[in-house]
Amino acid sequence: MEEAICRPTSKRIAVVTGANKGIGLEIVKQLASNGVMVLLTARDVKRGTEAVEKLKESGFSDVVFHQLDVADTSSIASLADFIKTQFGKLDILVNNAAILGIIVDLQHLDSSTKESMEQSGA
Ligand SMILES: NC(=O)c1ccc[n+]([C@@H]2O[C@H](COP(=O)([O-])OP(=O)(O)OC[C@H]3O[C@@H](n4cnc5c(N)ncnc54)[C@H](OP(=O)(O)O)[C@@H]3O)[C@@H](O)[C@H]2O)c1
Repeated sequence: MEEAICRPTSKRIAVVTGANKGIGLEIVKQLASNGVMVLLTARDVKRGTEAVEKLKESGFSDVVFHQLDVADTSSIASLADFIKTQFGKLDILVNNAAILGIIVDLQHLDSSTKESMEQSGA
């Protein structure tokens, strides 16, 4: 069995996906304000690190950045490894990233369904 090289912390550990802006960023603030160590994740390293830097400037110390594209399995595996080695646990997952999570094959839908899906932005 692999050993975890854990940071000694009694804090709860949270991951927030798509957290460089919007609702995800606000959730990071709320969790960090309530004594939770938060992994702010974003698919874009620049946008993510800038978000963490701004939070630190505003006094949020327990926020750490890690890259995560929720549509990329190697990125997911990399984050999982990081959590395992750094913390050895995960208490809270907020899967906020704005991604549909399903793949729609528009070619195989009938024309009326296709039209209504395109109009709704799906
Ligand atoms: N705002 C609303 O009124 C509302 C209402 C109902 C539900 N929601 C849901 O709440 C969530 C957040 O909404 P929001 O308004 O805060 O959205 P937002 O401002 O558009 O932010 C979406 C976040 O998701 C990230 N993201 C997109 N694809 C990703 C991927 N493949 N991997 C990782 N991150 C990814 C974006 O990163 P980039 O900056 O790199 O694009 C961004 O950080 C969404 O799931 C949305 O569907 C929102």
